[in-house]
Amino acid sequence: MTDTVRRAVCPGSYDPVTHGHLDVIARAAALHDEVVVAVLHNPAKAGTFSVQERIAFIERGVAERLGGADAAGATGSVRVRAFSGQLLVDVCRDLDASVIVKGLRGSTDFEYELPMALMNRHLTGIETVFIPGDPALAHVSSSLVKEVVRFGGDVTGLVPDEVRDALVDRLRADG
Ligand code: PNS
Repeated sequence: MTDTVRRAVCPGSYDPVTHGHLDVIARAAALHDEVVVAVLHNPAKAGTFSVQERIAFIERGVAERLGGADAAGATGSVRVRAFSGQLLVDVCRDLDASVIVKGLRGSTDFEYELPMALMNRHLTGIETVFIPGDPALAHVSSSLVKEVVRFGGDVTGLVPDEVRDALVDRLRADG
């Protein structure tokens, strides 16, 4: 037995969060004492949603999946925080997190993620753990969901309903 808290970081842009992300966050929470969902953003790049909106979508999505959020916006063992202008390894060090968790939808994700995992390990020794994404959501990404909404398609079931509605408002001229 050990008293050490096993804290994992689930990093990403989350612009916006999808059910694929929420599945990986929930499964990371089941494997670790604490999970910090790190919304990493570039202030010079205007995303579709503000960082505050992204955080709120994640917090409510996690609360829906894992139970109610407390006053500090924490849901059980999951917290959501925003970072910019920092290396992920420095975020992990500041948070005293010992592992990075990423979801893999397939081999293309693996090819994208492997050099980052190796670089992060090179920089501080931190390990990345890959969770296989739910095959039912293997086609779901924030960018694809946005494209589908922009041209009139329905993304119900791929993102939380409030995210779907916000996407329609934001991206569709008649939204
Ligand atoms: O959701 P995304 O866009 O695939 O997330 C990518 C992200 C934000 C996790 C990655 O770009 C990242 O870690 N950025 C932080 C800056 C950094 O540490 N870069 C070096 C990675 S080896």
